[in-house]
Amino acid sequence: MWPSDRTDLKVRVVWATVFLVLSKLVLVAGPYFFKWATDALAGDARTVPPLPAFLLAPVMLVIAYNVVRIVQTGFNQLRDALFARVGQYAVRQLAYRTFVHMHQLSLRFHLERRTGGLSRIIERGTKGIETIVRFTILNTLPTILEFALTAAIFAFAYGWIYVVVVAVTVWIYTWFTVRASDWRINIRREMNDSDTDANTKAIDSLLNFETVKYFGNERMEAQRFDRSMARYEIAATKTWTSLGWLNFGQGLIFGVGQTIVMVLSAREVLAGTQTVGDFVFINAMMMQLSVPLNFIGFIYREIRQGLTDIEQMFDLLDVPQEVEDKPDAKPLTISEGRVEFRDVHFAYDAARPILKGISFTVPAGKTVAIVGPSGAGKSTISRLLYRFYDIQQGAILIDGQDVRDVTQQSLRAAIGMVPQDTVLFNDTVAYNIRYGRMEASEEEVREAAELAQIGDFIGSLPDGYKTMVGERGLKLSGGEKQRVAIARTILKAPPILILDEATSALDTHTEQEIQTSLDLVSRDRTTIVIAHRLSTIIRADEIIVLRDGLIAERGSHANLLKQHGLYAQMWERQREATEAEEKLRIAQETDELGVVVRKRLSDL
Ligand SMILES: Nc1ncnc2c1ncn2[C@@H]1O[C@H](COP(=O)(O)OP(=O)(O)O)[C@@H](O)[C@H]1O
Ligand SMILES: [Mg+2]
Repeated sequence: MWPSDRTDLKVRVVWATVFLVLSKLVLVAGPYFFKWATDALAGDARTVPPLPAFLLAPVMLVIAYNVVRIVQTGFNQLRDALFARVGQYAVRQLAYRTFVHMHQLSLRFHLERRTGGLSRIIERGTKGIETIVRFTILNTLPTILEFALTAAIFAFAYGWIYVVVVAVTVWIYTWFTVRASDWRINIRREMNDSDTDANTKAIDSLLNFETVKYFGNERMEAQRFDRSMARYEIAATKTWTSLGWLNFGQGLIFGVGQTIVMVLSAREVLAGTQTVGDFVFINAMMMQLSVPLNFIGFIYREIRQGLTDIEQMFDLLDVPQEVEDKPDAKPLTISEGRVEFRDVHFAYDAARPILKGISFTVPAGKTVAIVGPSGAGKSTISRLLYRFYDIQQGAILIDGQDVRDVTQQSLRAAIGMVPQDTVLFNDTVAYNIRYGRMEASEEEVREAAELAQIGDFIGSLPDGYKTMVGERGLKLSGGEKQRVAIARTILKAPPILILDEATSALDTHTEQEIQTSLDLVSRDRTTIVIAHRLSTIIRADEIIVLRDGLIAERGSHANLLKQHGLYAQMWERQREATEAEEKLRIAQETDELGVVVRKRLSDL
């Protein structure tokens, strides 16, 4: 909570504390005026303080009593207003730290967690901080201070016996409230659960409106809903009655304490050792103390919930980074852009090795294609080059520098990636293209779009470059999204490029269109192409066939065909598939024609 890096906020904390103490001092001053006014009205001069006479007129004292109460409210609000900034700054800092940390965590972590769950944890965690701040700093601490002041005044003016009674009362009161609140938390949970249950049943039933009608099950549905509502009814009733018990218990405990204190005081008034003013003073102090005590149950529950939420968020902050820069990591320096995999062994899970000793080199500016059955570990190779994971054995080198020895930032800046499925930000087309290099000018964005052959398409949109692409880019077709991804990579202009099945989600026609722009991007760049359709990689300088975590075959397209191995088989199968596809298309067209002819005939 202490904003060590912000002087202005530190000043605020100090002022807030000053107003907190002031407000409590003023608060206990109130009953004093009340007491003096009472004594003045009763004509008892024993307790009158040494003040000028006109100030001690009963009317003045009554006014002072009320003014003091107003001033106290003012101080309280000042304190809250001053502190709000400090609390909110802490909330922001924590949210920021968690967000940054989230991006530092490994891909592995993110693949295992649901994004929605994460954002809920952050949201609840920051809210939890707010709750804790509000209720501890702005309520619990002031109440403790008030209790201490009350105790000090009682001890000083009326004797220890009063302090003991008040202390014991407050202690029992708090103990009872905490116990009762724990009990009520469970009752509330039961109520919330049955509420959710009834809700889900109602929604599900209405969603299945037609099905219910098909089977005439309205009555059964109503009964099912009513059973859930009955559970809710019982739980909700219990929540209310338990609240009644809590309130009654609190009232009873405090009432007993107050009775004892007031009986003590009344006896002293009778004995002449206290004035009537003292009697009302003690009563007023007790009433004042009961106000914050009333909220203890609520605050206890809120703080408890807040702590649970914060704990979850801190657990998240404690998750260690899997891939970390070495302390002496230097930025990667690219001289030509040579990529080398040297006997790379890798497993996501120790029990199941994925790569079992892969070695290959992509000379600067050349293209290497990786093919192989699905699940062979092709995408894994691209993730390893990006250093999303660390390998278990071997080395991955770029221009002779091990990727583990350079900063992740510089490594990733040097590599461009066009993935199989491009997910876009829910923003404009221009924003999504510019994401490749945020400082790119409008002209450069346009150029990149033209090169990626998406310029015409964007031009045809009513809003042009300002068109929103929808969540995850859903308003664009697969081919359009892919071209945005390519434009983005053109803008980034990385020395090394990875195309991971960049076109396999597209139909043959779109693929051919995009292929041209891909060829353009990869020209003169060190490129790793991971391909599904072999027709797209015929011109690669080397083709690597991956199978069971090992390189099964390697060579140029022509070479590999001559080997009559796995590659030749795959090539043959794909050719057949393409031919079959073609035949099917022709057959369908003929069939459509047949339908038309038949229809004409029947019309005739
Ligand atoms: N994050 C992961 N955790 C565990 N196993 C994974 C993970 N990602 C991929 N795998 C497994 O690793 C193997 C290779 O995956 P991948 O490299 O994506 O294959 P592909 O060659 O089809 O691109 C697959 O069997 C897959 O199930
Ligand atoms: Mg893959």
